Amino acid sequence: MRVLVTGGAGYIGSHLVVALLGAGHDVVVLDNLVTGYAEAVVRAQELGGRPVRFVHGDVGDASAVGDALDGVGAVLHLAAGKMVGQSMEIPEYYFRNNLAGMAVLLEGMVAAGVRSIVYSSSAAVYGGQDVVPIPETAPRRPDSPYGMTKAHGEDLLDWMASRRGWSAISLRYFNPVGAHASGRIGEAFESAQSLVPRALMALRGGPILRVFGDAHPTPDGTCQRDYIHIDDLTRAHLVALRAIEAPGHVVYNVGTGRPHSVREVIASCGRVVGRPVPFVDAPPRPGDPAVSLADPSKMARELGYRAERSLDDMVASAWRWLEQNLDGYPK
Ligand SMILES: NC(=O)c1ccc[n+]([C@@H]2O[C@H](COP(=O)([O-])OP(=O)(O)OC[C@H]3O[C@@H](n4cnc5c(N)ncnc54)[C@H](O)[C@@H]3O)[C@@H](O)[C@H]2O)c1
Repeated sequence: MRVLVTGGAGYIGSHLVVALLGAGHDVVVLDNLVTGYAEAVVRAQELGGRPVRFVHGDVGDASAVGDALDGVGAVLHLAAGKMVGQSMEIPEYYFRNNLAGMAVLLEGMVAAGVRSIVYSSSAAVYGGQDVVPIPETAPRRPDSPYGMTKAHGEDLLDWMASRRGWSAISLRYFNPVGAHASGRIGEAFESAQSLVPRALMALRGGPILRVFGDAHPTPDGTCQRDYIHIDDLTRAHLVALRAIEAPGHVVYNVGTGRPHSVREVIASCGRVVGRPVPFVDAPPRPGDPAVSLADPSKMARELGYRAERSLDDMVASAWRWLEQNLDGYPK
């Protein structure tokens, strides 16, 4: 099948391209390169062993969308802004890019007769929750414009499923970490906001790692999160794509269900690299939940999918990528 990956020049998208090529799909990438890299697509097709059709354009541009959808059987929709903090500063960009852009994509799919979509949603739709681990049935309470756009993206798919008989799966990712085993593609470290990249950058002489809060109600006082290896996350998309026959919109958490505290992540980075991560304690960030953990049992039960890779695996692959690409992708 020919599959369109919007955002295929980004961190997760480039890994998906490799996996899709490996599974025998033809791949089209639509990306405006706002946070992605043309070089990531070049490397992904090298790793996948086959060429990819790259359309340099915006999901909000109907003509680029129409062009990219030519001959496509299913869409994996990743293109979006993803920075919670940035979305607090410039919410209107998130509304346009993530929501208006998605509406244009959906219109293009109607015009092209494409009725299958896997959507990159996020744990950010949950916001702070009292119940841990979080099942998909938990009420969505996004506490950022970013999380709101992801929740409303799911709502758009509810209607496309019920009004137009589409098959849609939304995957609510928890915290993706790590890189392809080759070390050729990975997360752009210089702009990464998340813990593992920042800890590894600190080990390479970058800014000292700040640990926000050490008196949370967790065993070691630091926040606990659910981290998932990029390879496991990629595999979840292939499983979803295979399952996407029936009309309807189904939502799945994609996480491990295993909590790791900030101190455990720091210890893992030190273990993998062989020296301790330099860090300082800092005040807790307002609104940061003490624990965020997926209940991944629905995807296990319904689709037989389970994430397998350990935190040390995630960190080791991220470190390999960083060591081989100290300056990130060439511009
Ligand atoms: N990385 C995470 O921690 C995480 C967690 C949960 C959900 N997600 C979601 O996964 C998806 C991919 O995230 P990522 O980590 O790979 O981010 P990324 O920034 O590396 O990739 C996003 C890609 O989309 C492209 N893009 C953005 N807006 C576009 C537009 N309007 N038109 C065309 N291309 C556009 C960017 O250039 C980039 O290549 C996003 O939808 C994000 O919200 C990511």
